[in-house]
Formats: sequence, C-alpha cells, structure tokens
Amino acid sequence: MAKRVGSAPEHGVSRERGRALLDVRDLGTTFNTPRGAVKAVDGVSLGLAQGRTIGLVGESGCGKSVLSRSIMRLLPRRNVLSRGEVLYEGTELTALSESQMRRYWGTEMAMVFQDPMTSLNPVMKIGRQLTEGLRQHLKLSRSAAKDKALELLGDVGIPEPARRLDEYPHQLSGGMRQRVTIAIALSCGPRLLFADEATTALDVTVQAQILDLLQAQQDARHMAMVLVTHDLGVVAGRTDEIAVMYAGKIVERAPTRVLFADMKMPYTEALLRSIPRLENRSHTRLQAIGGRPPDLVRPPKGCRFAMRCPYAQERCEVEEPPLRDAVAPGHSYACWYPVGTPENSEALEVNLRRGRAQAQVVIAGAGAGAPAG
Ligand SMILES: Nc1ncnc2c1ncn2[C@@H]1O[C@H](COP(=O)(O)OP(=O)(O)O)[C@@H](O)[C@H]1O
Ligand code: SF4
Ligand SMILES: [Mg+2]
Repeated sequence: MAKRVGSAPEHGVSRERGRALLDVRDLGTTFNTPRGAVKAVDGVSLGLAQGRTIGLVGESGCGKSVLSRSIMRLLPRRNVLSRGEVLYEGTELTALSESQMRRYWGTEMAMVFQDPMTSLNPVMKIGRQLTEGLRQHLKLSRSAAKDKALELLGDVGIPEPARRLDEYPHQLSGGMRQRVTIAIALSCGPRLLFADEATTALDVTVQAQILDLLQAQQDARHMAMVLVTHDLGVVAGRTDEIAVMYAGKIVERAPTRVLFADMKMPYTEALLRSIPRLENRSHTRLQAIGGRPPDLVRPPKGCRFAMRCPYAQERCEVEEPPLRDAVAPGHSYACWYPVGTPENSEALEVNLRRGRAQAQVVIAGAGAGAPAG
C-alpha cells in the first residue's frame, strides 16, 4: 500500500465529500496560442471511486489527454490557464506546488501513454528504468528493488523477466514494451491509473491482451482506472461507466450497460455507429462520423455537435444544452432532442424532409453497430 501523503488538513484546502477517490469539479484548461485561446477542456466535472473504472471516450482532439494531464497536473504551466478543482481524497491538487505533486506521481497516480517509446528511455536498460522509481519513491535497497522489478515483470506477463532486466527497449516487441511501461506505472502502487490510448498503437490481438492485463491488474490492486480511448468498442466490456467527451466537454455519462442500452446523446450514437462490426472488426470502420469537430478557439454558440448532428434543429444552434439527468441513476446527457424520444424522431423526420445530409446517415446505418468489445 502506498504511503499516504498530502493528507487533507496539511494543505488546508480540502473538502471531504463522499467516498470518491477523485472528484473533479468544473475543470477548465485553456491554451494561449498565437491563433487565440484554445479551450481544450471546458467545465468538466466527474467523480471516481476507489476500485472503479471509467472509460473516457471521444474522437481525436476532443480533450481527453488534456483532461487526464490536467487532473494529474502534468501540463506545463506556461501559456496554460486553468480553472476548477481536482480533489484527490479531499485534497485540492490544483493548489499544490510541483514539488508537492511529486509525492503523488507514481505512488498515488500514474499514467500509461500511447507510445511506449516516448515513455521509455531508449538508452537505459529495462531493469534500471523499473528500479529507479522503486528506489526513489519506496526507498527500496538495490536488491529489494531488483526483486520487486522481477515480480512486476512477471505480473505484467513478461516471459523470462530476469533476462529482460538487462535488455534495452528496442529489443522488445511493441506489446512487450507496453507491458514494461505498465509495470513501471504500477511499480509504486498507485491507486489511480490513467491509460491514455495505451493500446491504440498495437495490433488488434495484442491490444486485447494489454487491455486484459490492465483490467486484471486494476482488479487485483483495487485501483481506480481511467481508460482513455477514441474507440467506444474498447471500453464496452471493460468499464463500470463511460464519459463521452466532445469538443472539451462531457456530453454523456452513464454506467456502461445503461449507455449501450439507452444512449441519449446523438454523438454517442454516432460513435457507436463507427465501431467496427463484430464480423469485420479488424477492417473498415462501419461509418465514420461525417464532418469535423469544431475549432476550439471559436466553438459554436449552441450545441457543439450541431454541425454534424442528424437531428439538429434551430434551437441547437443558438442554445447550448446543459448536462441533465436521465431516468437511470448515474446517467446524464446534454441534448435537446435525445435519442429514443418522440422529439428525436420528429427532428429526424424534419431533417429528412429538408434533405439534410447528416440525417441520411441514421437511415443508412439503422440497426448496425454492435459493440465489438
Ligand atoms: N500544448 C497545446 N497547445 C495548444 N493546444 C493544444 C495543446 N495540447 C492540446 N491542444 C489542443 O487541445 C485539444 C484537445 O487535445 P487532446 O486532449 O490531445 O485531444 P485527445 O486526447 O482527445 O485526442 C486539441 O484541439 C488540441 O489541438
Ligand atoms: S439534437 Fe441538438 S442538442 Fe442534441 S446533439 Fe444534436 S445538435 Fe446537439
Ligand atoms: Mg489523446
């Protein structure tokens, strides 16, 4: 068990609430760029309890990585404007200095990135990359760190761990390298793990193996996990709940089963349609979502999905839909014409009559898109 650091009273900014390990409130991250202010994360709130897994899903560029890094405080402060709160066990992380944050990185929260080659040092042996953190954070002796490194490599399914300690990253396959980065992330016993597109660069079979590994380790260690991916299929059977992100905001959130059974947000529906079919999962996407996400320097006034939405009406273009509660507990969505309601069918009919191209997509894809989880 990791050493408890930064307890609530120590920083004087804590507010205990419920049993959430992580409680993010109205988090915003804006980059100042020559083009203007990029609102990459815009008012995100979410909570996560110990031992639970949440999937953070959305197309590339919608703010998933910036959100994850903002929570972990891994973004450089230069040219970045932040707002909101990140409570970790009641401690407000955004108020901490970088040196105070160091006591959380590794031992409390860790991240696995998409490309193991960028997180591994190419000129350092695997063994040293694993033992450095153990010695530094857990104050283990050289031999105890080596024993622990061997155990970790075994935990993540690396054959002949003793031999691997003396190898360099380039001597391993992509899948094995990702296993090593997972071992490093797990090494100091974090209670919260972010996996940011951790399997995206891998082929489908290895992807499934790594996802199984993450799931098994999350379970065995009772960690909370944020599984970040652009692919709704990846999180289908592996998460307790899912938060769908679009253009810097969470637009739908629900327990995983509820989301697949009764999604309300047209963007979620469009993501589902873009999951490869079960019978053809390694090949073409079923239907890419037409159009592109909006420019985050000048996001549209109303619903940010309006330009691409099959059901969009005049109201959507002028009035931003707030995140509101659905019937099922824990389910919320932001949409004026939610999927599965009479208003939604009416909106589709109106758009078909008007000849809106986006509306044709729903007709063409009706009944398709079983999650390939
Ligand atoms: N350092 C940065 N400076 C300016 N804009 C950035 C920076 N990092 C990310 N962005 C922008 O923030 C948005 C969200 O990016 P990101 O979180 O990486 O998306 P995702 O992980 O969902 O693919 C994108 O529009 C991206 O261009
Ligand atoms: S129906 Fe309107 S509010 Fe709902 S997603 Fe489409 S554009 Fe947005
Ligand atoms: Mg990303």
